[in-house]
Amino acid sequence: MGKKGRDLTAVFPGSFDPFTNGHADIVERSLEIFDRIIIGILHNPSKNHLFSEEERVALISKQFARYGARVSVVSFSGLLVEFVESTKSRVVIRGLRAVSDYDYEAQMALVNRRLSPRIETLFLTAREEHSYISSTVVKQVALLGGDVSDMVPAVIATALTRKYKATQKDR
Ligand code: PNS
Repeated sequence: MGKKGRDLTAVFPGSFDPFTNGHADIVERSLEIFDRIIIGILHNPSKNHLFSEEERVALISKQFARYGARVSVVSFSGLLVEFVESTKSRVVIRGLRAVSDYDYEAQMALVNRRLSPRIETLFLTAREEHSYISSTVVKQVALLGGDVSDMVPAVIATALTRKYKATQKDR
């Protein structure tokens, strides 16, 4: 419980296609600060995703099942600030790997503040061992048959292997 018995909740939004060890670390560290974390998966029908929205919700839920109600995984579409406003939270968490992430992240945070001044964006710096990991890199390595077991949680690694085997069969 947070101060004055409040339930401090934060939203961790992203595409998570797929969810990486970098993302998992941000969630784990956020749980040290907040009572609850809502992982918000952006549903963007115009983008070609490797994992469907339902698959991403199921895989990430499995990863954090041990936290029970402290972690919830939901998908959202439209504006992030509207999604955050629909929850009890007013904090958005984002991870920063390197300076190169900063421009885009700062712009998003400023736009979101303009749209909804009561919502704050909180940045956590990625651990250095995760600084090279991105969902894009993971997809590329997995597609070419490389080992991604150091880059993603085990449930995601298994799902990636299954997904690419199925894709190769279709060819
Ligand atoms: O993991 P990603 O792809 O970097 O996540 C980006 C995300 C989902 C946080 C961002 O694209 C987003 O919030 N999209 C929702 C649309 C929105 O609110 N846009 C205005 C802020 S620029």
